[in-house]
Amino acid sequence: MADLEPRDVFVPNGFPVGDTNVFADRGLAQADLQKAMDRGFVPLVYGSYGVGKSSLVLRAALPWKAKNNQVYVESVHGKSLSDIFAALLEHLGYEIVVNKVSSSNRGGSGELSGEVEGGIIMMLKAKLASTIKREWAKEDSVEKELAVSSPTDSRIVRLCDAAGLLLIIDELHRGTPEFTRDLAAFVKAYANSNCRSFRICLLGTENDPNRLVLSDPGIGRTLDEIQLKPITQSEARAIIEPGMKALGISIPEALVSATVQAGVGSPFIVQYLCLEMAERVRRDARTVLVKSDLDDAIADYARRKAQQSILRYKAAIETTGPKRYRKQVLHAMAEIEDEYVTMDALVERVSARVGEDTPSTALSGPLRQLKSKEYAEILRDVDHPGKDGRVFNYSSFSDPAMKSTIRMIASINVDNLVK
Ligand SMILES: Nc1ncnc2c1ncn2[C@@H]1O[C@H](COP(=O)(O)OP(=O)(O)O)[C@@H](O)[C@H]1O
Ligand SMILES: [Mg+2]
Repeated sequence: MADLEPRDVFVPNGFPVGDTNVFADRGLAQADLQKAMDRGFVPLVYGSYGVGKSSLVLRAALPWKAKNNQVYVESVHGKSLSDIFAALLEHLGYEIVVNKVSSSNRGGSGELSGEVEGGIIMMLKAKLASTIKREWAKEDSVEKELAVSSPTDSRIVRLCDAAGLLLIIDELHRGTPEFTRDLAAFVKAYANSNCRSFRICLLGTENDPNRLVLSDPGIGRTLDEIQLKPITQSEARAIIEPGMKALGISIPEALVSATVQAGVGSPFIVQYLCLEMAERVRRDARTVLVKSDLDDAIADYARRKAQQSILRYKAAIETTGPKRYRKQVLHAMAEIEDEYVTMDALVERVSARVGEDTPSTALSGPLRQLKSKEYAEILRDVDHPGKDGRVFNYSSFSDPAMKSTIRMIASINVDNLVK
C-alpha cells in the first residue's frame, strides 16, 4: 500500500467512490439509506451544502454502477421531468426522437426549446436503437417505440424495473415548481408499481424535505426522509486516521484532534487539509506529521479556497460598537444548521450569543445591510412556501461555502492568514 499517492486516498474535489479513497461511515444516516434502498423506499437525503449527501448516495450506489445500472442526474436546474425520462430511456438504449411537444402541437413537429411553460405538457417520443446491447430486454418488456405524455406513465417504470436501474436525482432544491410537481406524480406512479429492482434516490439542500418533493398523501408512505448533518468528530477521524495510515504516515493524536477542529464539520475541509498535509510529508520524505504541516495546510486552505469569503466577512462585520450585530448575525447564521433561517431562529441564536434578549427590531437593520450591495450581499432573502402554502421569508448565505468559512473563523485564528 506504501506506493499510494496522497491524491489516491484523499479526494477533496471528487466523490470518494474509488477503491483507494477514504470514506467515513455516516452512521445512522448511512444505515437508513441502505435499508431504504434494500426495501424499495425512495430515500430523500437532505441537509446543508457540503455535508456529504452526494458522496453518501454515490457510495451506496456502487453496486448499481458496477453493473452499469446507475443513472445519475447531477442537478435538475433548468430541467423538466421529460429530461429525466430521456436520460433513463437513453440509458436503456432508446433514441429520443421528439422531446417536449406542446399539448396543442402534440405529435407534430413543433419541437420546443427552453422552459416548459404553462399549457405545455411533457411529451417524449423514443425509438429503440438497434445498435445497443440490451441485457435487460426480455421479450415481453420491450417496447420498440414509446410516446410518453404523462409523468405517471407506468411503462417507463416497468422498463426501468426490468433493467434494474437506480435513478439518482441530485440538487432537487434547484427544480422549478413544475418539475417538483411532475416528480411527485412520478414517485407516486413508482410507489404504485411495486418494483422489484428499480430504485429511485433523491437529494437536495433543504431544512424541510417537504419542499423538495411536494408532500402528497400518495407518496408519503414511499418517501424515506434522511437528514444528513455535518460530520461528527468521530466521522472526521474516520477520514484522517485510516487515510494517513493507508499512506504509511503517522499522525500524533494532538494533530488528529486539531485537524478535526479545523475541519468544522465539513468533510470537504477535512479532505483538503489531509491532502495538503500528506503531500507536505511526502515532499520532505518524512513519515510523521508535525504541527507546521497542519498550520501550512490551513493557511493554504484560507488562501486558495476561502480568501474571498474571509475578505467579504471582514468587510461586512463592524469593528467597533458594543453589540456588533452584523457580526452576531453572521455567526448565528453559521452556527444554525439550516440553510434557510427565519427571523425567529436568528433572534434566538443571537440572544444566546450576546447573553441577553434581543428583539427582532434590533436585528432587522443589520440583516438588511448584510443583504445590500454595500456589504457584498453576503446574505440574501429567500421566499419559500411553508407547509400551509403561505410564503415565508428566510435568510440564507449567498455563497453556501460561507458557512464553513465563518465556522472556521470562529474556531481558529485566521487573522494573520489573509491580509
Ligand atoms: N463520508 C465521507 N467520507 C469521506 N469524505 C467525504 C465523505 N462525504 C463527503 N466527503 C468529502 O466532502 C466533499 C463534499 O461532499 P459532497 O458529497 O459533495 O457534499 P454535498 O453533496 O452534501 O454537498 C466530497 O467531495 C468529499 O471529498
Ligand atoms: Mg451534492
